[in-house]
Amino acid sequence: NMPLLSQCYNLMDFEAVARRVMKKTAWGYYSSAADDEITMRENKAAFQRVWFRPRILVDVEKVDFSTTMLGARCDIPFYVTATALGKLGHAEGEVVLTRAARRHGVVQMIPTLASCSFDEIVDAAEAPQVQWLQLYVNKDRRITQRIVEHAERRGCRGLFITVDAPQLGRREKDMRSKFDEQGSSVQSGDATDNSQGAARAISSFIDPGLSWKDIPWFQSITKMPIILKGVQRVEDVVKAIEMGVQGVVLSNHGGRQLDFARSAIEVLAETMPVLRELGLENRVEIFIDGGVRRATDIIKALCLGAKGVGIGRPFLYAMSAYGQAGVEKAMQLLKDEMEMNMRLIGAQTVADLNPSLVDVKSLLSH
Ligand code: FNR
Repeated sequence: NMPLLSQCYNLMDFEAVARRVMKKTAWGYYSSAADDEITMRENKAAFQRVWFRPRILVDVEKVDFSTTMLGARCDIPFYVTATALGKLGHAEGEVVLTRAARRHGVVQMIPTLASCSFDEIVDAAEAPQVQWLQLYVNKDRRITQRIVEHAERRGCRGLFITVDAPQLGRREKDMRSKFDEQGSSVQSGDATDNSQGAARAISSFIDPGLSWKDIPWFQSITKMPIILKGVQRVEDVVKAIEMGVQGVVLSNHGGRQLDFARSAIEVLAETMPVLRELGLENRVEIFIDGGVRRATDIIKALCLGAKGVGIGRPFLYAMSAYGQAGVEKAMQLLKDEMEMNMRLIGAQTVADLNPSLVDVKSLLSH
């Protein structure tokens, strides 16, 4: 007997249900991470090394945690990040996430490797809903150009180029559970080797030759803001700013790429003081993802200078376990947590969230 949706009290509860109800291959693909999964664990552990320094006696009768990301209004400072192969978890795939995001005023990043077609996912949205495109860059740049131009024409408001995956990481749990090709309608390209797991089976088109030299080309083919997804050190944030991109996502791809990559929250804590010193802090919007499971995690990231955070697996698990109602519930839980914790930290709006509200001594010195 499975827990009812009403018995899910936090995002981790969805994971426990999903683990029981999902097919082994799907669970293997969603839950796996690279090598020994040290980075995936660190993503959560790092948030646990950030402590609050709340203010008291602030009037918090009304709190407002709406914000803007890349100029778009959103109800709460998180977005559904790009995760491939939605149909492994739910027969309808990514449109389930789209519909739930619409209900909650949440931005969705559409993956290149979605199970649904790009147009299906855009069609499932309704104005003023905001969607972004996550791009894996094809060796054949004509294909990439077509994808980008099409996304812009269809109203996408941001181009997130994934830069941490010149080759997909080795996820052994996924490899063990093999890949049954159903559930994907993607540009897999050449012959693929299914024994390598879902990830590798679909990623052979990705160009490992992608480099900084390509950035001006992207800027020449689109007016969408360009954001680099998967930046992992402050030097590259500075370089991205110098190249004129509009944003970066500090991310290690949910621990699925380089094992022993540091957590995004730690990289953020290292990055912002340097940007402030260089007077660059307002030149880009900084996002982070990886291990965000609680509103307190979101608040910590915003205090340290992030504009918003991406959340991946929890929505996949909620979708796999309970469909659209599950994803909506997960989003509602985060809103409820957000309201309470904004009050408890003494912040009325996201503009009140600043570095003095957190203690990062143990984050940076562990
Ligand atoms: C991902 N992620 C990802 N990123 C990307 O740029 N393109 C992609 O196709 C995918 N696919 C994908 C599939 C699955 C199953 C997962 C779990 C993740 C990475 C994703 O965008 C994000 O960086 C992490 O998921 C964030 O970590 P959490 O929230 O899952 O801990």
